Amino acid sequence: MCGIVGVTGNDNAVKILLDGLQKLEYRGYDSAGIYVNDQSGEDYLVKEKGRISELKREVGPSVHGSTGIGHTRWATHGVVSVDNAHPQVSQDGRFYLVHNGVIDNFQEIKSEYLSDVPFTSQTDTEVVVQLIDKIATEENLNAHDAFIKALQLLHGSSYAFLLMDKQEPDTLFVAKNKSPLLVGVGDGFNVVCSDALAMLRETHDFLELVDGEVVTIKPDGIKIEDAAGNVVQRDTFHVDMDADETDKGTYPFYMLKEIDEQPNVMRRLAQVYLSETGAPVVNDALLASMKKADRIYIVGAGTSYHAGLVGKRLFENLTQTPTEVHISSEFAYEQPILSEKPFFIFLSQSGETADSREVLVNVNAAGHESLTITNVQNSTLSREATYTMLLHAGPEIAVASTKAYTAQIALQAILAKALGEADKQIVAQRFDIRQQLGLVATGIQAIVDEKDKIEALVKQSFLKTPNAFYIGRGLDWGVSLEAALKLKEISYVQAEGFASGELKHGTIALIEEGTPVIGIITQSKTAGLTRSNLQETMARGAKIITIVSENLAKDSDDIVLADVDELMTPLISVVPTQLLAYYTSLLKGLDVDRPRNLAKSVTVE
Ligand code: F6R
Repeated sequence: MCGIVGVTGNDNAVKILLDGLQKLEYRGYDSAGIYVNDQSGEDYLVKEKGRISELKREVGPSVHGSTGIGHTRWATHGVVSVDNAHPQVSQDGRFYLVHNGVIDNFQEIKSEYLSDVPFTSQTDTEVVVQLIDKIATEENLNAHDAFIKALQLLHGSSYAFLLMDKQEPDTLFVAKNKSPLLVGVGDGFNVVCSDALAMLRETHDFLELVDGEVVTIKPDGIKIEDAAGNVVQRDTFHVDMDADETDKGTYPFYMLKEIDEQPNVMRRLAQVYLSETGAPVVNDALLASMKKADRIYIVGAGTSYHAGLVGKRLFENLTQTPTEVHISSEFAYEQPILSEKPFFIFLSQSGETADSREVLVNVNAAGHESLTITNVQNSTLSREATYTMLLHAGPEIAVASTKAYTAQIALQAILAKALGEADKQIVAQRFDIRQQLGLVATGIQAIVDEKDKIEALVKQSFLKTPNAFYIGRGLDWGVSLEAALKLKEISYVQAEGFASGELKHGTIALIEEGTPVIGIITQSKTAGLTRSNLQETMARGAKIITIVSENLAKDSDDIVLADVDELMTPLISVVPTQLLAYYTSLLKGLDVDRPRNLAKSVTVE
């Protein structure tokens, strides 16, 4: 949530900042701004409401400099306005600050230390920049020392800060707590970013930062200090990703590109995690740790939580280990009674979700072992869990998650197969994961090759409807929840996913003439029951659409899916629902990749 960039020591600073912000737009797109300084007395502050494209229009050719900071905002405190956009400036125009996170005690700080200061915004960020200025002025401190003193007053807050002081115009001051931030090492210059994606055109070598550290960055040097003021030496890590991977190419929207990439993601996971004979290649220590567990707890938010619902079935079927799935924001504050030997799996595309991290902090404090399954190397959740497995899905930039969901399920299947085999479970031994991933890749390809059919269905039934229902049982219900989330978030259709047997216990009252009800049918045990439930809604006027596995299909079904093991069907059945959401949003003329009110990486609780 909110994206931050910075650069020092490069005459192309304005372009680097704007291009970096464009790459971070998925983190927030309410408003944006940059501050640049050219080291000879000229500096510029430009802020604009709306997308980065609006900011780019506002930045004229005269705006130049070699050191600067930038921000794209997802509003937390204060409405969307130019005043509330970052960088925030201290009253005398000396300090400029961009911030990702939330300062819990900003009101207290304002009344205790800043009652005589005029404020121009409603943001918690302005409180911090004014505080730094006040401390620097009253105590005659340099920016570094005033920054540290100010940080000590921020209690229980989450932040990634990037500060500039006009009196030291080639220096960036950085601090983080709970919010992500990386320093990138360039050739004769250095950069800062919330996500490595933003700076891949400048460098592939990054330094991770740890909570509580303060970093001073000049064109020719980076000094990291820990919370006690000791200087810390740290090696860079290399991000092995091509900058072009973060481009849309010829696609109109990232979401469509990412949907189309799913067959390749399945194949890549097989390459990375399976041996030539098709056996899973999984860290021995991780397997040993999981083998000791008497219960697996899967924790995630949104789409990742939905991927966990499928993971539960995979672990229970292939390993016979009882598995629970929890929404991270609930688990963090209403923790269930844990088993004696719990093992935790965190699912997170970004590896930065604050709700999930809150759980991981507690899990670590209690001394339990954990695994993070994430798409982002060196992300916070990956660093802080005992083990990490990467999704290798390539950057996911559309706000609505697609390929990360299928990658999370596929990777859980690989892990469940490995664990079940290590435990000599016959079902796991018989489960041919390599063959299944191959079938899944082909099955997804068949769906994406027939996009036109789904576009036609959308034109018939989705463009005018205010609401829609996805129904299914068991795994199909899990996919229904994900399908409904996708439709809601990008097309603003009020959509719900229901266990189809539950419909007649209340929800069926909502069915009216023409309400779309989409049945997902891939489980032989319950196929007939879901069909009956669909009939019940049809009798009340619903417009029925069916998504059915080939072996259960009838001639009248709308979308027929290639057959795979019933445990793996979510990997294919979700794809038509992703496309239904995509076309509904597209044909309504909405911004598919950046739906209103949302941000991709949710780094506040
Ligand atoms: C929905 C979506 C969100 C995320 C959720 C968790 O399309 O993308 O629901 O799944 O915010 O994010 P991660 O997986 O990054 O922890």
